[in-house]
Amino acid sequence: MEREAVLVGIDVGTSKVCALIGEVARDGTLTIVGKGVVPASGLRKAVVVNIDQTVRSISGAVDHAERLSGYQIDRAFVGVGGQNVESQNSRGAVAVTGHQREVTREDVDRALEVARAVSIPSNREVLHVLPRGFIVDGQEGVKDPLGMSAVRLEIETHIVTAGATAVRNLAKCVQAANVKIDELVASSLASAETVLSETERELGVAVADIGAGTIDLALFLDGSPFKTVVLPVGGNNVTNDLAIGLKTSLQVAEELKIQHGSCDLSTVIGDESISVSTLGEAAGRTVSRIDVCRIIEARMREVFEMMAAEIKAAGEGMLPAGLVLTGGGSQLEGAAALGREVLNMPVRVAGPTDVGGLTDNILNPAYSTAIGLLYWGAKGLEAGASGPYPSTPAGGLPGRVRDALRNLFP
Ligand SMILES: Nc1ncnc2c1ncn2[C@@H]1O[C@H](COP(=O)(O)OP(=O)(O)OP(=O)(O)O)[C@@H](O)[C@H]1O
Ligand SMILES: [Mg+2]
Repeated sequence: MEREAVLVGIDVGTSKVCALIGEVARDGTLTIVGKGVVPASGLRKAVVVNIDQTVRSISGAVDHAERLSGYQIDRAFVGVGGQNVESQNSRGAVAVTGHQREVTREDVDRALEVARAVSIPSNREVLHVLPRGFIVDGQEGVKDPLGMSAVRLEIETHIVTAGATAVRNLAKCVQAANVKIDELVASSLASAETVLSETERELGVAVADIGAGTIDLALFLDGSPFKTVVLPVGGNNVTNDLAIGLKTSLQVAEELKIQHGSCDLSTVIGDESISVSTLGEAAGRTVSRIDVCRIIEARMREVFEMMAAEIKAAGEGMLPAGLVLTGGGSQLEGAAALGREVLNMPVRVAGPTDVGGLTDNILNPAYSTAIGLLYWGAKGLEAGASGPYPSTPAGGLPGRVRDALRNLFP
């Protein structure tokens, strides 16, 4: 298959940094040719709190990926998580001015600029201005207005922002690792690229990437995101609860969770006891499995209730395709079952799909963001546009707008 481009995705997560190099063929097929995964230190809830440690983790992951592939990494798509990611929807309207009053690309760009001009606090950085659809002379639900005769063109956009200082620190770390930034992408939107189907997005669906420190949540309707938000909880909270509840170390708690944990209490029967000493504790102590699972279930129930509140606030009954869980934390046994019970909607767990090449150990939900970043980049290739960050200064729209437009003009 003819090679179209080589793209790089870097997911700087709370627990690990993952750099992937992917070859995208002309038909869109993605082949992983390089990968590097190193444990992260220096982040708290996906926000950089130690620059040196974060740079070291990123450099480590990049080195591994380069050595494996023989490629030199120059630039990358970088995921942005952290509790400072938020979104809002904004409309922009313009009069169609062109020849014979046919909607042109320029009208669309102007409408986007009007939508983008919504007031955004100076302490926030715009990550995405994503067109959701158009209203042409009052007619809603227009996906592609180019060439339509009209007097008035209105665009609906989804604007994703993040805390400006957090974004700057992340960008600084990536650049200090000698990598330029193709684009900063909200983690949930990256993950969505590989775990959601086109049909689900059209119908209405949510994706929740349960990481170590955060949950990146995005809600889709009519094919595009309409709410993007990050919840400041993740798998680490479950581990912490276990360590405190069972008076044990974080390492033992993590092993207990992964090997014996479940948040579906209906499947935990009898009173199985687990010998904790096999997990590294000195004395021959045992804990009961039901106690372990009760602690996990209590926290996970709360986590699903937080998701339910966000989904409810966005509008009841908007998501007939339900919720798709991904991220390392979604691998907890019983996660989908408890999710269905609390949210009262279809819930499934998904990892990356449709990837070839060096996929050992990465076809697992913990790598959805990293692989999704490559898909996000590949989508940009189709539209032939991508604005390098940070060469577009605040308000420097064109690069990002063109970039955003690819969603609607494939
Ligand atoms: N089999 C498993 N069962 C339960 N939890 C698991 C399992 N495997 C991994 N986890 C949890 O997944 C979390 C790590 O997930 P992931 O790698 O997606 O996080 P991250 O991307 O580094 O963090 P974040 O997205 O919050 O910045 C950890 O809390 C870990 O305990
Ligand atoms: Mg993550």
